[in-house]
Amino acid sequence: MASNRGQFNTRIGFILAAAGSAVGLGNIWKFPFEVGQGGGAAFVVLYLAFCFLLCFPVMISEIAIGRKTQLNPVGAFKKLGHGNWSIIGLLGIIAGVLILSFYNVVAGWAFGYFLEMVQGNFGVGKEFGTFITDWQKIGMYGIVFMAVTAFIVSKGIAGGIEKASKILMPTLFTLILLLIGYALTLDGAMEGIKFYLVPDFSEINGDVIYSALGQAFFSLSLGMGALITYGSYVSKKQNIVRSAALITLTDVSIAFLAGLMIFPFVAYLTQGSMEGVEGGAGLIFATLPGVFESLGATLGMVIGALFFLLLSFAALTSTVSLLEVPVAYLVDEKKIKRPYAVWGMAAFIFLLGIPSMLSNGNVEALTNFVTLGGSDKATNFMDFIGLVASDTFLPIGGALISIFVAYVWKTNNLNEEIAIGRENAIPFVTKYINFAVMFICPVILGAIGIITILDRYFGIDVLSKLF
Ligand code: PFF
Repeated sequence: MASNRGQFNTRIGFILAAAGSAVGLGNIWKFPFEVGQGGGAAFVVLYLAFCFLLCFPVMISEIAIGRKTQLNPVGAFKKLGHGNWSIIGLLGIIAGVLILSFYNVVAGWAFGYFLEMVQGNFGVGKEFGTFITDWQKIGMYGIVFMAVTAFIVSKGIAGGIEKASKILMPTLFTLILLLIGYALTLDGAMEGIKFYLVPDFSEINGDVIYSALGQAFFSLSLGMGALITYGSYVSKKQNIVRSAALITLTDVSIAFLAGLMIFPFVAYLTQGSMEGVEGGAGLIFATLPGVFESLGATLGMVIGALFFLLLSFAALTSTVSLLEVPVAYLVDEKKIKRPYAVWGMAAFIFLLGIPSMLSNGNVEALTNFVTLGGSDKATNFMDFIGLVASDTFLPIGGALISIFVAYVWKTNNLNEEIAIGRENAIPFVTKYINFAVMFICPVILGAIGIITILDRYFGIDVLSKLF
């Protein structure tokens, strides 16, 4: 059975593919900014703690469920529990499809910026607002990005996902080190590093803790069955605990390195003042092209093109994992042949992403889509889908996965699965994983889901009351 579905050929292949899923737009555009705003190193410490104490046990659970059942998320929960539990898998697949629908749009921007940089068009940064409303261009980039993603996924696990990850991940690592090396030579680099890393514990409040948690979870691709799916292609020889540690470490390191690259760039542009530093999309797409421009035409073109190539590669290994989740479901459960499942799903998700694509100024009803409780500013369609799929579904999915492992599948079965291929196990680690899935993960992840709903949908500011 397993051989029909395909398998990762090598240990490192799986680790690179899963780390590729984790390392994405989230690491490069979101993490550095959140660190800058959330107290520098203080945020990093929190983030690390959440990754290892809270996310790591969920990651192990997901991989173990996948490897045990050798099935997609819906099939996996059905096999280990009762039919009803497969709803967790279904929720995950829906979340993945929704996330990919808008993630692909942003990935398309990154790819489009790569093309603009190659042509030396730095002015695109100032015109970011116009760039993202040029629907013909953005639509083309989105199609190209989805097609490349689908091409890789259509080639299967070893010949597609593993092979691509083995090329893309080392390239990504090299690119980021090159860019950091260069950024650190710029005037004012140290000011940037200081802004990034000098801890300021007074900045830590409920909002910062909430963001660090959400960021850790999204960044590690947890809560929607991506790692159940990848885990289902892992051989029984592989040490799940060690692999999960390496995946987490890679993700955290790339996020950390992204900050070492971006803040010196921004400091150089602002001459060390770091004033007017915008977060998220603005920082990457509006601010950075100005930095590249100031490096001069040729150097700016090279550094700018390398940067957006890096961003596109990071996004690509994530879109691949997002597409593989519904594809695995169609292949396993609906017996659809892989190529049909891949191209059909890719086309469907691209179409589903069109409203997100048009929600940045093209269509008024999508641009000012909803006004949610407590805010007088409307959220656009793209952010709304992000709120539902990643901020709400993922933590709730994570809580349900831990509850399932702890109380339905039971920790002794989890322990049995993770003991396979695990040499020199440290008993304390197993005890901690068990304790975390029984108590810590359900409570904290469930709380994040509930806080998101109360705070973001209904405007009830629970966070400031809690901290
Ligand atoms: N981890 C990716 C990022 O940080 O950009 C996003 C992501 C990919 C989330 C795959 C969930 C997922 F299943």
